[in-house]
Amino acid sequence: MTYKAVLIPGDGIGPEVADAVVTILAAAQAPIEWIPRLAGIAALEGGAKELLPSETVAAIKEHKYALKGPCSTPVGGGFSSVNVALRKTLDLYGAVRPVRSLPGVQTRFDGVDLVVVRENTEGLYAGIENEITRGVVTSVKVATRDACTRIADFAFRYAVHRKRRKVSVFHKANIMKLSDGMFIRCAREVREAKFPELEYEELIIDAACMKLVQDPTRFDVLLMENLYGDVISDLCAGLVGGLGAVPGANYGEAGSVFEAVHGSAPDIAGKGIANPLALTMSAVMMLNHIAEKHEDAALAATAKRIRDAYDRALLDGCKTGDLGGTLNTKQFAQAVIDRL
Ligand code: NAI
Repeated sequence: MTYKAVLIPGDGIGPEVADAVVTILAAAQAPIEWIPRLAGIAALEGGAKELLPSETVAAIKEHKYALKGPCSTPVGGGFSSVNVALRKTLDLYGAVRPVRSLPGVQTRFDGVDLVVVRENTEGLYAGIENEITRGVVTSVKVATRDACTRIADFAFRYAVHRKRRKVSVFHKANIMKLSDGMFIRCAREVREAKFPELEYEELIIDAACMKLVQDPTRFDVLLMENLYGDVISDLCAGLVGGLGAVPGANYGEAGSVFEAVHGSAPDIAGKGIANPLALTMSAVMMLNHIAEKHEDAALAATAKRIRDAYDRALLDGCKTGDLGGTLNTKQFAQAVIDRL
């Protein structure tokens, strides 16, 4: 059985790390037929009229699975985020970012194994802003009961499915009493009604950050709204080696888009030194997801072979510069392939 998946290389380091991932999956004989599509600045450069061409969205709807490189968004002006637009257009409401200590990667902590679950469609991150009069800007934080309940249900289901023991909700409901207040109330209600066996806690996000950097091993599944999830994901990446080492997935009914937490890294783009690990890990998440959906044990075994190979490569000291090593993108990909 061969599965079709859309491949969106993206901008900056995106094409470099996407190439590496495609090479690794081919070497592992993962039965994926890639459907290449463009998004971001790469789409405009490729002759498209929009940053998010409708044929890219249509391809994801059709094939259900996509692996996506990062897309750049200008700071303080210019066009809106293609990444946000894609998540909203496809209603990919549940972002999952697993963060684990990696073998051979020395950090301040051992044994980190947590998962950030982020609401992906609402909150301040939606970027609804107005200059109501010169020098006065409002930024609207959207929260709906439906979306808060939906992401809570998603996080608890994920926790049970993955045999996780605890869900911690991060919030700022002491200040944002209505929006974050509703977020935690929905989480509480879902837990009481359907998942009472799971440990549960609510933490104000500022104190939660302190606890995270003091002892991340006390955490398991973290549930939060959009902007908090964005920030906390990068903080957590810093706990296990950096942005080159944390994968992600965006799930919805229309399909799933797998992408690393990192961005297009313009500071190193074109140099061939970006770490392809995070996107490779995202691809492994995609393979596992497809394997589960299709009850394909052979595909799950292929995903495990790739994961074991990059764990082994790291343990053997094969690392890119961001993790303290000397390998470039292609050399790291080869090190993984050598250990398949
Ligand atoms: P970034 O994640 O691109 O880079 C932050 C730092 O981490 C840089 O020093 C970079 O070199 C390093 N880094 C990131 N990924 C790496 C990798 N795979 N290997 C080695 N080093 C890596 O974040 P930044 O600079 O804030 O954003 C750059 C652009 O990316 C912006 O236009 C932003 O909007 C976009 N972005 C896109 C995302 C997406 O497509 N989902 C997510 C985050 C940012």
